[in-house]
Amino acid sequence: MQEPTELEKRQSIIDHCRKMNSSGLNQGVSGNISIRHGDGMLISPTSVPYDALTPEAIAFVRLGDGAASGPFAPSSEWRFHRDIIARRRDVNAVVHAHPNFCTVLGAMGYEIPAMSYMINIFGGPNIRIAPYALYGTQELSDVAIAAMKGRHGVLLANHGMIAVGSSVEQAFWRAEEMETLARLYHGCLQIGTPVPLSEAQVQEVIDKNAAYGLGTPEDEE
Ligand code: 13P
Repeated sequence: MQEPTELEKRQSIIDHCRKMNSSGLNQGVSGNISIRHGDGMLISPTSVPYDALTPEAIAFVRLGDGAASGPFAPSSEWRFHRDIIARRRDVNAVVHAHPNFCTVLGAMGYEIPAMSYMINIFGGPNIRIAPYALYGTQELSDVAIAAMKGRHGVLLANHGMIAVGSSVEQAFWRAEEMETLARLYHGCLQIGTPVPLSEAQVQEVIDKNAAYGLGTPEDEE
């Protein structure tokens, strides 16, 4: 697939930010989206309502030194966006949001277990939860990256979630699927404890899906 132009990436960040709110995945400006670009990434600016965003308003952050450019400061969460994109060659886009059910599980300190075979699209038999750390800090980036090892997404305790993908469309799809899994798991917990799939059963689905191009997470190090 041909790489989108810079303008297309900027517009796509805006479109997906708006979709994030219109679909109910997020509210206000508590989410942010980034896309790999050259030696850095394009990322939504901090605190600018999505309806007011224009392509020029999207910030650029260099991966190496975190230097930012643009008329507005980058999202306060630029550190984990930068660290994920810098470390994971398979990731070209990152979606962060505060969806209701992911945030409920995050507040309870629950990870999402293999209660549906759809967990496979996150690369393993669970979606882990990163311990709480103050938003916008390097500490939050470090705990999120550790908990996301070998996965395409992570819950953030008392905060929200992160989903990644080879494109913004794929990262957004995973964000929606994570919220669905969180909602279903919440539903299971109302009536008991779901019967989890085994690691081998989840791996079987991952292997079957390899033909669909849903890759295995590539962690550096
Ligand atoms: P922005 O800084 O991108 O507006 O978002 C705040 C946030 O998501 C805190 O987690």
